[in-house]
Amino acid sequence: MKIGFIGTGHIAAPMVRFLATKGHQITVSERNAEVAEALRASHVVTVAPNQAVLDASDVVFLCLRPQIAAGILEGLTFKVDHRIISVMAGLSLSDLQKLCAPATDVEMTIPLGFLEQGGCPLPACPKGDLLTQLFAPENPVIEVPSERAFLNHFAICAMVPGILDLLTTGADWLAETTEDPDGAALYATQLVAGFLASVPKDRAALSRERDALATEGTLSLQMTSTLRNGGAHDALREALTAIGQRLDPAQ
Ligand SMILES: NC(=O)c1ccc[n+]([C@@H]2O[C@H](COP(=O)([O-])OP(=O)(O)OC[C@H]3O[C@@H](n4cnc5c(N)ncnc54)[C@H](OP(=O)(O)O)[C@@H]3O)[C@@H](O)[C@H]2O)c1
Repeated sequence: MKIGFIGTGHIAAPMVRFLATKGHQITVSERNAEVAEALRASHVVTVAPNQAVLDASDVVFLCLRPQIAAGILEGLTFKVDHRIISVMAGLSLSDLQKLCAPATDVEMTIPLGFLEQGGCPLPACPKGDLLTQLFAPENPVIEVPSERAFLNHFAICAMVPGILDLLTTGADWLAETTEDPDGAALYATQLVAGFLASVPKDRAALSRERDALATEGTLSLQMTSTLRNGGAHDALREALTAIGQRLDPAQ
């Protein structure tokens, strides 16, 4: 496919590298100049001004910072048959449809940089046909027709730093006795990463695996009960709800 990127920054670069390995013909916009040049030098990628990116592409990725996106997109001419993928938090589907008119085929998603290595779940709103064609099966696409439900996926994304923060506390606590902070961080990180990699991804898996560990009299049950009784789950739900409302004040 002929694919263009408007905005060549942190999140565009890993997507370009992934798509380049699939043999697509890719054109990226000139900014950021350093990132665009690095992609040109190491992959089969052309660098061009924004309108030339659109003119050379059938599929257009929008990877701009939300606060400047409207100003940039308003000055560009889209084709009716452009297929658009937006990764920009903060621009609604109706905003995008206005800014990209006469193009009507718009999909929104939330990629993370590790998409390049595969294993990154991609929520897709209002549909995920094109995302599936481009990124699956390496990255599973989860269709979320409701825009409100899609926005709540950003709240779940924010759980990642929350979990990293908890892991940091655990690793730091361990290092107080081992006096080996690197070993403690490796142990805590690899333990959780390795365990989660082996867990099936069906809807009951998380609670099933938890219940298999946290049986009567175990250290695991002591941990889950202490966290629950200490209000950790209430705090998590409160944070998710507050983030959901920030993203969609109508919630
Ligand atoms: N980073 C992530 O992990 C991530 C994940 C999911 C979604 N997103 C979303 O992706 C979007 C981009 O995020 P990012 O982290 O990739 O930001 P970023 O690194 O700042 O990328 C945005 C790019 O837009 C470029 N730009 C500025 N003005 C431009 C113009 N007039 N024409 C063309 N390009 C222009 C910037 O170039 P200069 O550097 O030269 O200004 C920059 O390279 C955001 O909406 C964010 O919400 C990001």
